Amino acid sequence: MENNIYNPEYVKGLFNEMSSSYERMNFITSFGFTIRWRRQFLEQFDQPKHKAEIIDLLTGMGETWKATKNKLPNSNLTVLDFSDGMLKYAKQKSKQKFDNEINVLQQDVLKNELSSSHYDFVTCAFGLKTFNAEQLQILAKETKRILKVGGQFSFIEVSKPNNKLLKTLYGFYLGQIIPVFGRLLLGNPEVYKMLWQYTNKFDNAKNATDIFAQTGLTTNFNSYFYGCATGFYGTKTEE
Ligand SMILES: C[S@@+](CC[C@H](N)C(=O)[O-])C[C@H]1O[C@@H](n2cnc3c(N)ncnc32)[C@H](O)[C@@H]1O
Repeated sequence: MENNIYNPEYVKGLFNEMSSSYERMNFITSFGFTIRWRRQFLEQFDQPKHKAEIIDLLTGMGETWKATKNKLPNSNLTVLDFSDGMLKYAKQKSKQKFDNEINVLQQDVLKNELSSSHYDFVTCAFGLKTFNAEQLQILAKETKRILKVGGQFSFIEVSKPNNKLLKTLYGFYLGQIIPVFGRLLLGNPEVYKMLWQYTNKFDNAKNATDIFAQTGLTTNFNSYFYGCATGFYGTKTEE
């Protein structure tokens, strides 16, 4: 029963429903943190010497594109998501703000058709929590498969901080306050309550870091603002 929340069709439905309010919600509720985190999680990347191929997995409406293009201006950016709702806005954004230069793909990342050994960089922001351990293993294998040798990756996710007081405050904020905004913006607090459920179960990115390391990717854990977000980055060193 519990595993149903990780069913891709269920997750897709949730994001389709959230899509009309997701960007405003992000803006209102992040206090600028997510903007900073989106920049920080790309800081470990080396500057490429040639035009780089980047893929942003679970791209949503393209919230990370600006930070990505700022960090890696000489690049082709391909993005992937499976939610029609989120991609509708992503395509609008590509047209209005990126000269239609973003290659937008609608695919399930767990069953994707991306080319092997093709990408110099794989990025992914705030998409890990809706995967269980088995799905994270597939994600790790797919990340390794699509990266070139020498290619780099970085993932980040909202997490539960270690500090007890901060954990309580952040839990209250994500579990109680954000759903109130959800009711105001969407008329439905339940979908945003689900995000807290996922974060609660996800805890932090340590487990996912181990799973990525086990596939043979060189993987380093990273923590942002006292653990309110965590993630990992690294390199594919061999096929
Ligand atoms: C929380 S949003 C993050 C969006 C964006 N990256 C950001 O930084 O705000 C997670 C996204 O992952 C997508 N997603 C979840 N599971 C997926 C899957 N199996 N394949 C493709 N996209 C998926 C959802 O549709 C949603 O747009």
